Order: sequence, then structure tokens, then C-alpha cells
Amino acid sequence: MAFSCSSILLLLLVLLSASWATSTSIQEDFIQCLDDNSEHVIPIFTVCAQTNSSFTSILNSTAQNLRCLMPSVPKPEFIFTPLNESHVQAAVICAKKLGIHLRFRSGGHDYEGLSYASQIETPFIMLDLARLRAINVDIDDNSAWVQAGATVGEVYYRISENSKTHGFPAGLCSSLGIGGHITGGAYGSMMRKYGLGADNVLDARIVDVNGKILDRAAMGEDFFWAIRGGGGASFGIILAWKIKLVPVPETVTVFTVPKTLEQGATKILYRWQQVADKLDEDLFIRVILQASKAGQKGERTVTTAYNALFLGDAERLLQVMNQSFPELGLTQKDCIETSWIKSVLYIAGFPSETPPEVLLEGKSLFKNYFKAKSDFVQQPIPETGLEGLWKRLLEEDSPLMIWNPYGGMMANISESAIPFPHRKGNLFKIQYVTSWFEGSKEANTKHMDWIRGVYDYMGAYVPSSPRAAYVNYRDLDLGMNHNTNSSFSEASVWGAKYFKGNFERLVKVKSKVDPDNFFRHEQSIPAVLDEA
Ligand SMILES: Cc1cc2nc3c(=O)[nH]c(=O)nc-3n(C[C@H](O)[C@H](O)[C@H](O)COP(=O)(O)OP(=O)(O)OC[C@H]3O[C@@H](n4cnc5c(N)ncnc54)[C@H](O)[C@@H]3O)c2cc1C
Ligand SMILES: *[C@@H]1O[C@H](CO)[C@@H](O)[C@H](O)[C@H]1NC(C)=O
Ligand SMILES: *[C@@H]1O[C@H](CO)[C@@H](O)[C@H](O)[C@H]1NC(C)=O
Ligand SMILES: *[C@@H]1O[C@H](CO)[C@@H](O)[C@H](O)[C@H]1NC(C)=O
Ligand SMILES: *[C@@H]1O[C@H](CO)[C@@H](O)[C@H](O)[C@H]1NC(C)=O
Ligand SMILES: *[C@@H]1O[C@H](CO)[C@@H](O)[C@H](O)[C@H]1NC(C)=O
Ligand SMILES: *[C@@H]1O[C@H](CO)[C@@H](O)[C@H](O)[C@H]1NC(C)=O
Repeated sequence: MAFSCSSILLLLLVLLSASWATSTSIQEDFIQCLDDNSEHVIPIFTVCAQTNSSFTSILNSTAQNLRCLMPSVPKPEFIFTPLNESHVQAAVICAKKLGIHLRFRSGGHDYEGLSYASQIETPFIMLDLARLRAINVDIDDNSAWVQAGATVGEVYYRISENSKTHGFPAGLCSSLGIGGHITGGAYGSMMRKYGLGADNVLDARIVDVNGKILDRAAMGEDFFWAIRGGGGASFGIILAWKIKLVPVPETVTVFTVPKTLEQGATKILYRWQQVADKLDEDLFIRVILQASKAGQKGERTVTTAYNALFLGDAERLLQVMNQSFPELGLTQKDCIETSWIKSVLYIAGFPSETPPEVLLEGKSLFKNYFKAKSDFVQQPIPETGLEGLWKRLLEEDSPLMIWNPYGGMMANISESAIPFPHRKGNLFKIQYVTSWFEGSKEANTKHMDWIRGVYDYMGAYVPSSPRAAYVNYRDLDLGMNHNTNSSFSEASVWGAKYFKGNFERLVKVKSKVDPDNFFRHEQSIPAVLDEA
């Protein structure tokens, strides 16, 4: 069965009328409980109820997918914005005590809105970690402590402010919340050299189900393993990550070379599939595929844009390209030499000359209604397969695909080192996206149908058992928990896709650290009782 954030209108109307009557008292009880369980009185302005005129703007502030803000989607009874770690502890203790379902949000980029919307349970409350965003960089120690509510853009900026030759290998989009992002892996343009963000975590602070703060030593290695890639919100609330900084050269090179179908896109992309994972590890070339009008005449075509970061200067890049991928025809004038922090802005899509300080605003560059899916490719897709794909892309209003090369360090790390299992053998990952700008049910259905159709079509070109997926590209089409009691066999279906052989170990950790399944959502890791 297929679910979406907006497919439960009827159920919602029933639940909403029931929950209205009780929301004031839930809120009052919660505030009272917070005060009883915190060393200090909790300021009243940290709690914002549905009836408050600021509610929607706070809820909307970092919600990235407008599909999950549609009126039919259940909203939290109220939002609590903790100002420090002890507030988060009190929130867990009180939600448990009062039996209120809890969701929590760092950067709000969840593809299915699970950090601020709930399909399986109402009423619920939301903890917004946006005010916990301190960043402490320690260059001498090659590390930084970063609170969950900071965006990756802020992290990159603070590192570059301290050193021009340090960086961190996480996501390309600057508004991602570091809190949720690392829980699922966190790949970016340095993954072929250094692996994922989650591969470069040294320590963490987490609030567990008992409201205790645990660091790596206190939580133990199994628990610490699970939170680095096992997906958000199954094990506890991450307060902060201690990340390992990586070396970057003072000068890096970026480029974007577009090729349309008329310019031989099909043959070049076929070639890219054969070389992308084998290129020099300093080179990351992703391909961004779109269907749009090209040129004056306005004929629709497919554009494949080769968008790259090279950890070195243009001269060496041209040598590498000449040797490994001359078919792209890269020239000196395509190459932009810049600093690592400016390469972050370039790859994130900011207009050139935007000052790096924009990263401190932590704002998203765009918001729309969207649906996305993912695949991992292990054999090049033949040209005939690509041609069928072009036909489908040309049928959709705003289709987008992003193909991310693997290989390098990604192939060197074992499948079980952390829960993220997609390593050796993968040539590249595909992300499918369709987005739209109008919140009607018809638009929703039309675009959801389109993306499911493309995904079916592509099934012929990717491994099928399991058909792998990236947990940070959360996709409820793959299956979901239907109520408080998640079932192991139901969860195994999407669990195997996201985590392969690591799923069972995740279930074991979950059963140990949260046996009553307090931290749960539509795709949380199930806790299995001992006797089961
Ligand atoms: C425009 C866009 C670009 C993206 N680009 C990339 C990319 O380049 N690379 C990449 O790897 N991914 C990318 N992603 C996916 C992204 O990594 C995930 O959506 C990630 O979960 C976002 O984290 P967040 O904190 O912003 O999201 P949230 O919506 O706040 O949280 C996501 C999930 O984690 C849980 N969670 C949030 N905070 C915490 C916490 N403190 N402790 C425990 N659980 C928590 C939430 O409850 C939710 O289940 C992109 C997503 C979008 C929308
Ligand atoms: C937490 O916040 C309260 C305000 O509610 C403040 O009085 C207290 O000092 C803070 N505690 C810490 C550890 O920062
Ligand atoms: C509404 O919410 C804001 C922000 O949380 C808060 O400052 C304000 O006190 C709230 N107003 C009422 C009437 O609760
Ligand atoms: C919040 O987002 C919804 C959905 O896009 C929109 O209808 C509403 O106007 C927004 N409200 C505010 C205050 O931004
Ligand atoms: C590219 O490589 C060929 C040999 O493979 C060489 O003849 C040519 O000079 C090289 N071009 C550049 C720009 O390095
Ligand atoms: C990956 O392993 C290969 C083979 O051992 C090695 O040559 C290469 O340098 C490694 N790559 C990284 C990024 O560590
Ligand atoms: C969950 O399981 C418990 C114990 O097995 C049972 O009592 C309860 O009714 C179940 N709840 C739901 C919503 O299925």
C-alpha cells in the first residue's frame, strides 16, 4: 500500500476533534512536569501551542517539504524549543511520564517530514532543537563539538574561520541539520576521499530513554555504532556530535559542464558510469539530470550536468581528466580555482560572489512540495536503458535526478563498520526527485504516480534482493510501522533496503536501549521482545 503525508484526511479530522479538547491540559501538564524536572524554571516562551499565532511560522521555519505541511497532515499539539541540554532531558522524562508521543527536529530536511509530522500517532508534541546550535572547533585536536541544531553550512563556516586547510566531509546542501543528517550517513563531495560524515564521528552526546545524557564511553560501542547511520530518532536524542576534521588543500577546483541529448549526453553518461567510481579519489563528479527547455526554440530536452569538486588545482585536474575521462572534453576555461569554503557555496548552488557568511543564516535556498526515492547501481545502465529513462523524464514537469559516484574510500570501509552498508561494488547512487509548487491533491497524486513509475522502470537495472535505498532519503513507499507496536517482519522489508545485514544488529541495540519503543516513528527500528 502507498502512503503519503496527505493521504489520511478523514482519520485526521476525527482525531483532531478529539485532541482539541485535551490540548490545553496536555500543555499545562507538560510545562508543570518540565518545571518539576528541571533545575531551573523553564521560560514560558519556549512552548508554543497550536492556538498561538506564532505556531505556524515556527512549525514552517525549517520544514523543507511543503507536502508535509499540507492542512491534511497532523500537526504537533505544541512545539517546545529547549534552550539547553537539561531541557531536552526534562522533555523526555515528561513525555514518557504523561504518555505523549514525541517527535524531534534538528534541520527539518526529512523527506517525509517525520521530524514534525506524524501519520501513525496523534496527539504528539515536537521538540525543535533549533536553539541548540553551538559549534566549538579545536584545530589542534583536528576536531569539533557541534550541537544538533547547527546546519552543516554553519559547521563548514566555523571550520574555515579557524583554518583554510581543514574541512568536514558531509552534505552538499548547506541548510541540513547536523543532528539528523549524521544519523543516516551524510555523504557529500569529499566522500570518495574521506567517506561519510558518520564515518568521521569521534564521540556524541545523547539523551536516552531515561532522560540521561550519555557520551560514547557511557553508551558503549554497540549503542555508539547504531547512532552513526542507523537512521534518526530510533535510539535517543542526539545533543551534539564530536566530528573529526579532515585536511583540504588551500586551492580546490570546481566545474559544471552541461551536455544535452543533442550534444551526445547518452554516450558520455554511459562512459561516466564506467569511470566515475575509479577516478582519482580527489575527484568527485556527480551528474545532475533535468528535463527542461533548451535554447531559443524551446524544445524540451534532457540536460546532464557534470558538477564536480577536485581537491587540487586546475592543472592537475586537467591531467586527471585527460587520462581518465577525456570524453567530457573539460577545458581550462571550465575550471574555477577557489577555496574549500567557496566550493561549498558553489556546490550548494549559491550565486557566485555570495559571501560565505550567508552560511551562518542557515537558511534553505528553496522550498517546494517534493517526493524522492533512491537506488544503488552496480552495473552500468546500457544506452537503451538510458533512452527509456529520457522518455520518462520528458513526461514530467520538474524531474530531477542526481547520480553520485562511489568508489575510493567508500569502497574501502567495510559494510558493517557503521550501519550504512552501501560500500564496495556500488558504482553510483541515484536520487530521483520530483517537485511542484501547488498544494492540491491532484498535483500530489500526479507527481507521486510519475516518480513511482520511473522507479518501477529502473528496477530492471539495479540489484533486486534487496533493492537498496539510502535511509536519509526516507521513502515511506518502502513500507512503514503502522502503530506503536512495530513488527519485526514488516520492518525487515525496508530495514534490509536501508541497512542490509546491519538491520538485525540495529534491532538488537534498539531492544536493549529502548525496549518499550518510546523513540518511534513510521520507519523507526523495531524493538523485539526477548520471548519473540
Ligand atoms: C534539499 C536537501 C538536500 C539534501 N542533501 C543531502 C546530501 O547532500 N547528503 C546527504 O547525505 N543527505 C542529504 N539530504 C538528506 C538529509 O541528510 C536528511 O534529510 C537528514 O535526515 C536531514 O537531517 P535534518 O536534521 O535536517 O532533518 P530532520 O527532519 O530534523 O530530522 C531527520 C530525522 O532525524 C531525526 N532527528 C532529527 N534530529 C535528531 C537528533 N538530534 N537526534 C536523533 N534523531 C534526530 C528526526 O526525528 C527525523 O526522523 C538532503 C535533504 C534535502 C531535503
Ligand atoms: C538552562 O536554561 C535555564 C533557563 O531556563 C538557565 O537558567 C540555566 O542556567 C541553563 N542551564 C545550563 C546548564 O545552561
Ligand atoms: C506564543 O508563542 C511565542 C513563541 O513561542 C511566545 O513567546 C508567546 O509567549 C506565546 N503566546 C502565548 C499567548 O502563549
Ligand atoms: C506554512 O506553510 C503552509 C504550507 O505551505 C502555508 O499554507 C502557510 O501559509 C505557512 N504559514 C506561515 C505562517 O508561514
Ligand atoms: C592528453 O593526453 C594525450 C595522451 O594520452 C596527450 O597527447 C595530450 O597532450 C594530453 N593533453 C593534455 C591537455 O594534457
Ligand atoms: C582504498 O584502498 C586502496 C587499495 O588498498 C588504496 O589504494 C586507496 O588509497 C584507498 N583509498 C582511500 C581513500 O583510502
Ligand atoms: C501492542 O501490543 C500490546 C501487547 O502485545 C497490546 O496489548 C496492544 O493492544 C498493542 N497495541 C496496538 C496498537 O496494536
